[in-house]
Amino acid sequence: MKDLSGLPQYQERVDQYLTNALDAIIVNDQKLHDAMRYGLLIGGKRMRPYLAYIAGEALGASTEDIDGVAAAIECIHAYSLLHDDLPAMDDDDLRRGRPTCHKAFDEATAILAGDSLQTLAFDILANHAFSAFAKTKQLTLIKLLINAAGYQGMCGGQALDLSATNKNVAIDALENLHHLKTGALLQASVLMAAECAPNVKPEDKLALKEYAQHVGLAYQVRDDIIDITSSDEELGKPAGSDLAANKSTYPSLLGLQGAQQKADDLFQQSLQALARLPYNTQNLSDFATFIIQRTS
Ligand code: IPE
Ligand code: IPE
Ligand code: MG
Ligand code: MG
Ligand code: MG
Repeated sequence: MKDLSGLPQYQERVDQYLTNALDAIIVNDQKLHDAMRYGLLIGGKRMRPYLAYIAGEALGASTEDIDGVAAAIECIHAYSLLHDDLPAMDDDDLRRGRPTCHKAFDEATAILAGDSLQTLAFDILANHAFSAFAKTKQLTLIKLLINAAGYQGMCGGQALDLSATNKNVAIDALENLHHLKTGALLQASVLMAAECAPNVKPEDKLALKEYAQHVGLAYQVRDDIIDITSSDEELGKPAGSDLAANKSTYPSLLGLQGAQQKADDLFQQSLQALARLPYNTQNLSDFATFIIQRTS
């Protein structure tokens, strides 16, 4: 599989930022602070930060501005995983190759660490040393992340995911829940990066949004596929978890081949959206390729 250009550097960059952010805060309860570190800093592909960095790079945003965006989005993502793994939700024991946060600590601590990572995301957006230009966009950035994370985005999608469990749902309903639970945050990575770049035309923002919608949906379609085709070791989380929990997924509705066909179609649509942009979008198209081929 193709390497993503600059991935290790951007992973290291966002990890350094997040480490500094966690070192800088005073958390009165040591166990809570430790659980926040555990959930945020150990492992993870950092795909959402990477997407924000490469979108920002393509559009001419300052990398220092994207640092704040990338770190905030990863905090929301990490919180979503802590809660997703809880017994009340997917009840999984393994995440990023280690015991899930509620196994390593306890359920109450995993809930509170998730809550605290959510507030840390907005703390970062409110206090990051944005450039003079991006400072004028700070409230817009905060609103974009609110929409992507909350009831209109990830949380709303997680609720739909739970109510679609042990049920046959229509493909449109599955598409909607995938868009919300996973697509919304990936879309925010691109749209927030675009806000940090001066002179992005409205029609270009629209093409970027369409690209991100297709890639965001493809991300979860592929996640559903590799839940079946990869091992615990490859995934760092329990393989077969969706089948065991009788989740509504793309493979459960369309079969494995049908699900991969859907991912391939989304890939083609994402490239069509990129083709409308007057920027060098090579890294964004490589990202789309990577997403539909990934095995972990
Ligand atoms: C897993 O996300 C959950 C989904 C939304 C599909 P990732 O596959 O990006 O998980 P990490 O961050 O690399 O652990
Ligand atoms: C989770 O989807 C999406 C989130 C918002 C966390 P999954 O439940 O499929 O994610 P994994 O497979 O546990 O990482
Ligand atoms: Mg889930
Ligand atoms: Mg899960
Ligand atoms: Mg999954």
